[in-house]
Amino acid sequence: MTNLPKTSALIPAAGSGTRLGMGFKALVELGGKTLLERAIQNVQPYVDQIWIAIAPQMEASVQPLLERYANLHWVLGGETRQASVWNLLEASDTQTVIIHDAARPFLAADRLEVLLAAVQNTGAATLALASADTLVHTQNGYWNALIDRSSAYAVQTPQGFWRAVLHQAHQQAHQHGSSATDDAGLVIQSGHAVQIVSGDSRLFKITTPMDLELARAFVGVWDAAL
Ligand code: CTP
Ligand code: MG
Repeated sequence: MTNLPKTSALIPAAGSGTRLGMGFKALVELGGKTLLERAIQNVQPYVDQIWIAIAPQMEASVQPLLERYANLHWVLGGETRQASVWNLLEASDTQTVIIHDAARPFLAADRLEVLLAAVQNTGAATLALASADTLVHTQNGYWNALIDRSSAYAVQTPQGFWRAVLHQAHQQAHQHGSSATDDAGLVIQSGHAVQIVSGDSRLFKITTPMDLELARAFVGVWDAAL
């Protein structure tokens, strides 16, 4: 028996997928399953509850998932990702939460395990990927200044938090009218440190048609290794 604190996975899936241009992105199929179902399956063995934020028009499509996964619950998302996560956070009540984009289907079990371990210790951690490419600031289309690559990371999900830490960060952002592209960004704004855990290049977010093309070329290899 373990006495780890109970954990929820919060999956923002309410986005309209404008850049992909195929309707609600979470419902796009990849290798015979929707991106949303892949996200649910990836986190399920590690959490006590799963909460998804969906758009009202997605309700009928997610019914079969709600029947298939006993610990799956839903809320309506908001206008922004931040608003969707807030709704998820208000609905869930576990001591630890992990947030994972429905749009990142290739989450390896070992990355989730190291993230969860980090969160138990520090209260806030995110996966992030070191850059293999040289990074520069640009100005008007020209190379301006080199970024020190050794300390630069691209932030991914999942991100994990003690619920109280994330709740306070969201509340402060709401009070100040501030925003961030992800939850780790909000937690930083609230003054709490965020631990960086090594991510995975396969955890790329499906944003554009080219990303989906890459995912479709790779999914067979991924599924065969499971
Ligand atoms: N998301 C959400 N609620 C919103 C906006 C985004 O739950 N109001 C979710 C998306 O469903 C996705 C994740 O946040 O799983 C990351 O967002 P992104 O990749 O930007 O997805 P979309 O907002 O759907 O895409 P786009 O920005 O191209 O419209
Ligand atoms: Mg978006």
